[in-house]
Amino acid sequence: MNKKILITGAGGYIGSVATYLFLEQGYEVVALDNLSTGYKSPIVELQKRFGKDKLKFYQADLLEDLKAILEEEKDIQAVIHYAASCSVNESMENPEKYFKNNVVGSNNLLTTMLEAGIKKVVFSSTCAVYGEAKYTPVDELHPKDPTNPYGQSKKIVEEILSWYGSLSGMQFVALRYFNVCGASDDGLIGDSKRPSSLLVQNVVRGALGIEPFYLTCADVETPDKTPIRDYINVVDLNLAHIKAVEYLLNGGENQVLNLGTGEGNSVLEVVNMVEELTGYTFKLDKAPARQGEYAKMVANITKAQETLNWKPERTIKDSVESLLKWYKEHPNGWE
Ligand SMILES: NC(=O)c1ccc[n+]([C@@H]2O[C@H](COP(=O)([O-])OP(=O)(O)OC[C@H]3O[C@@H](n4cnc5c(N)ncnc54)[C@H](O)[C@@H]3O)[C@@H](O)[C@H]2O)c1
Repeated sequence: MNKKILITGAGGYIGSVATYLFLEQGYEVVALDNLSTGYKSPIVELQKRFGKDKLKFYQADLLEDLKAILEEEKDIQAVIHYAASCSVNESMENPEKYFKNNVVGSNNLLTTMLEAGIKKVVFSSTCAVYGEAKYTPVDELHPKDPTNPYGQSKKIVEEILSWYGSLSGMQFVALRYFNVCGASDDGLIGDSKRPSSLLVQNVVRGALGIEPFYLTCADVETPDKTPIRDYINVVDLNLAHIKAVEYLLNGGENQVLNLGTGEGNSVLEVVNMVEELTGYTFKLDKAPARQGEYAKMVANITKAQETLNWKPERTIKDSVESLLKWYKEHPNGWE
């Protein structure tokens, strides 16, 4: 039987790369997006390559009545739920939007799934549920103490999932991403966030002259005084989602797993890597420092590796190379 999945947020950065990879693996994909921060263009591009019978698109909102879509699309075996509002800064300015879109929207999706008898879901969570790292590498048992409504909204959805898991038979894998970077390996599908808060993308855009890049990090206690983060390649990240779907289809137990590389890079290391690969030299004028920056956040990924039989394979260099391909063809991202 064909494996058929629903991907929410399929027009967004991570969801569009996921759609590409699931199609490559032979899945039939039903894509859903309200195009609030995403684009139809990657879907159209992938429909050209794989056919509209393999990739169907619904422009729809998580907050709408989704029953008709789930009824129309029979035999969906699992949902991969990427759709969300995901800017930390915006969530501090407009918390209502985050609790409505991310919490109420997710709850609407999950309850409609249960009504339709679809019980398997892979959920995009975030390391923002932990707040500032009390120790590194951060494992899944680290205290959860979000410092912004975005992280809080994801923590609440994880808790809803856990209750639906124990009371309603929902089967889920919640994946807590660290910092996502890169494009598909061939540069076909990438990141169109405007503006973006994703460092690797912004450094590459700076080097290519698309948009100036400024150092906005405060001095912190790391060897080169710039923050260390765990940058996971978007293809490696999404390959873990494919493994998570297979894990659920094989009857795996509910899980919450970190997705990162287990290693960190400082901001200056990322800048140096981009300089090395492009020959560009940054002046690195300091812009006003972002508030609340912490020194180091790196994932412990042992649980994901063991549960999913997965390991990240792409280096930060691979991510920069895929971004160079993507931005050279799409300097303005998707239109
Ligand atoms: N980018 C990262 O580094 C990162 C890190 C941790 C977690 N995440 C999570 O990964 C997921 C995808 O993030 P992204 O970086 O691709 O963001 P994105 O903004 O590019 O993609 C989100 C997509 O969801 C869609 N969407 C938003 N609200 C919707 C709604 N109510 N109904 C239908 N569609 C809606 C948007 O139009 C967009 O296409 C999010 O859940 C995010 O919280 C991302």
